[in-house]
Amino acid sequence: MDAQDRLPMGEVARRSGFAASALRYYESQGLIAATRSSGGQRTFERSVLRRLAFIRAASNVGLSLEEIRDELAALPAERTPTKSDWHRISKHWRVRLDEQIAALERLRDGLDSCIGCGCLSLKQCGISNPGDVAAVGGGAGAAYLPRLLRRDPPRRDAARGSSPR
Ligand code: FES
Repeated sequence: MDAQDRLPMGEVARRSGFAASALRYYESQGLIAATRSSGGQRTFERSVLRRLAFIRAASNVGLSLEEIRDELAALPAERTPTKSDWHRISKHWRVRLDEQIAALERLRDGLDSCIGCGCLSLKQCGISNPGDVAAVGGGAGAAYLPRLLRRDPPRRDAARGSSPR
């Protein structure tokens, strides 16, 4: 590939809407690939823009970084998602969104019994401990959210950028 076909970091950041720090993070996580110019600057193939659009869409649906990596890894080597890939993947994501909506509705309905209560008890509060996760040793913090509503915590430096999650 001609070096002129490659995009410098600033151009990718401007056109994708991701901060340079987010691009470096995604590169370190293996989601996108860069090469170094003779001057040591990162450059990217133009196809990285489509790959970043895919990452943003997947993130908006609620996929964790690991899940996004798995989705991208399922494509033939370094290829960006084609229209038919997108059709197959987005059908799967619709099911996932439906499940997330159902989980949120269950959480909202559990809130009804909390109004005026305030106990936040792990034994009886459906919001503090939905599905009695505590009883099966689900761990702390976000483990108490329904599985579908848990997310990776954002990296501090990446979160300062435009929108990596
Ligand atoms: S706060 Fe008491 S049941 Fe939720």
